[in-house]
Amino acid sequence: MHGSGSIETAKAGGGTPDLPRPPSPRPQEAPLGPLATLFVLRRNPVETWTKAHYEKPILLGNSILGMTAVVTDPKAIRRVLSENAGNYRKDWLQRRVLSPGLGEGLLTVEGEAWKVQRRTLAPLFTPKTVAGFTDTMVAASETLIARWQRQRPGRVIDVHAEMGRATLDVLSRTIFSDGIGEKPQEFMRIFSDYLQSIGSLDPVDLFNLPSFVPRMNHLKNRAALGFFKEAVEAIIVKRRARLESDPQSTPRDLLTLLLEAADPETQDHLSEDEVYANVLTFIGAGHETTANALTWSLYLLSLAPDWGERLAAEADAAFAGPAETLVDRLVQTRAVIEEAMRLYPPVASLTREAIDADDLCGRRIRKGTLVMMPPWLLHRHRLLWDNPDHFDPRRFLPGAREKIDRFAYLPFGAGPRICIGATFALQEGCILLAAIMRHFRLEHVESHEVVPVQRVTLRPKDGMPMILRRRVRA
Ligand code: HEM
Repeated sequence: MHGSGSIETAKAGGGTPDLPRPPSPRPQEAPLGPLATLFVLRRNPVETWTKAHYEKPILLGNSILGMTAVVTDPKAIRRVLSENAGNYRKDWLQRRVLSPGLGEGLLTVEGEAWKVQRRTLAPLFTPKTVAGFTDTMVAASETLIARWQRQRPGRVIDVHAEMGRATLDVLSRTIFSDGIGEKPQEFMRIFSDYLQSIGSLDPVDLFNLPSFVPRMNHLKNRAALGFFKEAVEAIIVKRRARLESDPQSTPRDLLTLLLEAADPETQDHLSEDEVYANVLTFIGAGHETTANALTWSLYLLSLAPDWGERLAAEADAAFAGPAETLVDRLVQTRAVIEEAMRLYPPVASLTREAIDADDLCGRRIRKGTLVMMPPWLLHRHRLLWDNPDHFDPRRFLPGAREKIDRFAYLPFGAGPRICIGATFALQEGCILLAAIMRHFRLEHVESHEVVPVQRVTLRPKDGMPMILRRRVRA
């Protein structure tokens, strides 16, 4: 249906003066039948939502996914993700899609194993540790700027691919700061291919077949994973040896912190498999998510040139000050990223399975119900936001930001399983976006239809071609 009217295209103003209305799927008038649901789910899950989903706080029903409750009431979400979190676990659908790639890493483990890993890994992502990565992130932004400065002005670049490259660069510099082995180019290429291929829903996943049933996506990935595992294991062995022989000179990057991490209660370290699974998890969970947040930010800025000017001025002033506090000065830049993640949440779906019965919004939730709290719907809900489909970063400026209900805006989730990398991602996003806006202006290619498509992350269909222009300073 793309190009045939299912996507409402971008309009400057779009009925609300001065606010751009970027493209989004037109809500369905009524629920789709089972076959159509399957078809649309496979193509693009955000196209399945009906008008009622955008207007009602809770909708219960039976779908091809079994008993489901679609919940967008912030109080009910608070109950599921926080107050009664013990009654809700990550559901089979998530485990099925993510586990084969990410194994026993923090994102996919459950129960006691998750508790131990979470407290062991917490020190890797404290604000202080993350602030220590500022210089590394600035260095990665300089590499990106230098690469773009070599391009002919007016050239069309795929911003989505470019952001993927930049966020992978940040992760490889913060995890493996002394390099990624003997074949860095091949390592990056294979890993990037692997990341591209995970995450589309396989029909086998939807029908909940046992995990020994082969999945097309996962079979394709086996070779890439094998190469990656070998390369990372070699890096880990080398790093362990260095830590033993010369701890003083060993870089304090995420790999060293992972190898040194100890459970504060038992002093136990992570096993070899857990170290490997978490390297993969940090890259898998932190690469495309952040790249998408940046891609959507740059696209939205192309629809609102006044915000582009503001960010360029803010970045000029911010980069002139001390590096330690750089991110604190990028207030408007952060507001743009937060608004981009409202309209296009990189993780567009958050789901849990009810272990026991519960009550949400006065409705009975039966044991085993799949509870869906999709940030995509929540962030555009008619009861929760003014001009829900319009780009308006002012909502996230100090003074307004505090009025947003904690459980109405969930780009990073909430409760005990909130994204451990949120501070890292926001800091990285602010630095990369500010560095870009200082030097460049990106224009949307008019002939390219922008379609948000949900895989594991919400990405632009067929990339994001944009015209690269140098910023002319006043
Ligand atoms: C804009 C970028 C990012 C977004 C939107 C994002 C979003 C999320 C969300 C929504 C969850 C919770 C899922 C749930 O409750 O079911 C999550 C969990 C997680 N994220 Fe992120 N993430 C981002 C960046 C990162 C980065 C940079 C890292 C690591 C370097 C990371 C590592 C993780 C991990 C390990 C978890 C699992 C936490 C747990 O279960 O204890 N994420 N992320």
